Amino acid sequence: MTVTFYKNRFIESGENAVSIQDRAYNYGDGVYEMVRFYGGQGFCLEEHLERLEKSATAIRMKLPYSQEEMHKIVCSAAEKVGEETVDVYFQISRGEAPRLHPFPNTDSVLALFARPARSYTNEFRRSGVAVITLPDERWSNCYIKSLNLLPNVMAKQAAIDAGAFEAVFIRDGFVTEASVSNVFGFHDGIFLTHPANKGILNGITRRCVIKTIENLGYSWKEEAMDEVFFQKEVAAAFLTSTTMEIMPISKINDRDLGSVECDSPIMEVHKAMSGVRA
Ligand code: PDD
Repeated sequence: MTVTFYKNRFIESGENAVSIQDRAYNYGDGVYEMVRFYGGQGFCLEEHLERLEKSATAIRMKLPYSQEEMHKIVCSAAEKVGEETVDVYFQISRGEAPRLHPFPNTDSVLALFARPARSYTNEFRRSGVAVITLPDERWSNCYIKSLNLLPNVMAKQAAIDAGAFEAVFIRDGFVTEASVSNVFGFHDGIFLTHPANKGILNGITRRCVIKTIENLGYSWKEEAMDEVFFQKEVAAAFLTSTTMEIMPISKINDRDLGSVECDSPIMEVHKAMSGVRA
């Protein structure tokens, strides 16, 4: 069952509640989050709400609810779905107003849906996924989780069309992140990932992975991987996101990395993270 919420209330499925003049439609003028619930608990929900607030501040938008109110709405939506694992998507737009570019004098609007999560099996995870590399054609404020995702959508589709699972972005010769996930490499016993600056979204999963790597006693560096190193040399690599969790990469363009062993450092991090979620 999918549960939906728009402008202060839960709505019936099929109900025509969303305005054509919501600025999310007209301009992509808003920000969003996606949170996964495991056994009724939102995984890092506070961090997601904090990031939402930061994204909103960055685009000079005020949230329609306090953090406590947002927490309540998100949790009650997840509960209404009534499944073990639930994904809750929520976006805040600058509201409903006649289409004119300047900020309108309206209150911002929450739109949300919650649905049963589509999880990947561990078998799928261990065999890994193919990625292609593409130029990062996005703007320079990718740390904002903005509704404007056209370059991401185009890149993801290009990956699918090429028989791959995800598109990894290259900017100025370095790996930034992927179309819907962050990217890590593993080489000479060290985990590598792009610094959390304006060029990438600082993923909540990315942050948890880094903490887990530290707890397990591995080394890591916030260092962008050179495109050639990533394509030709990196020993292993993986993607991270709320919905993928940790997803090993088995192929980068034409280069096979193969599947990952159960006891590999990447799967060790994944198992430790699953422990955190359980
Ligand atoms: N996206 N980078 C990009 C561009 C993303 O879209 C996402 C996640 C991430 C990972 O962030 P997190 O670990 O906080 O989920 C990194 C979500 C899941 C989405 O758009 O559906």
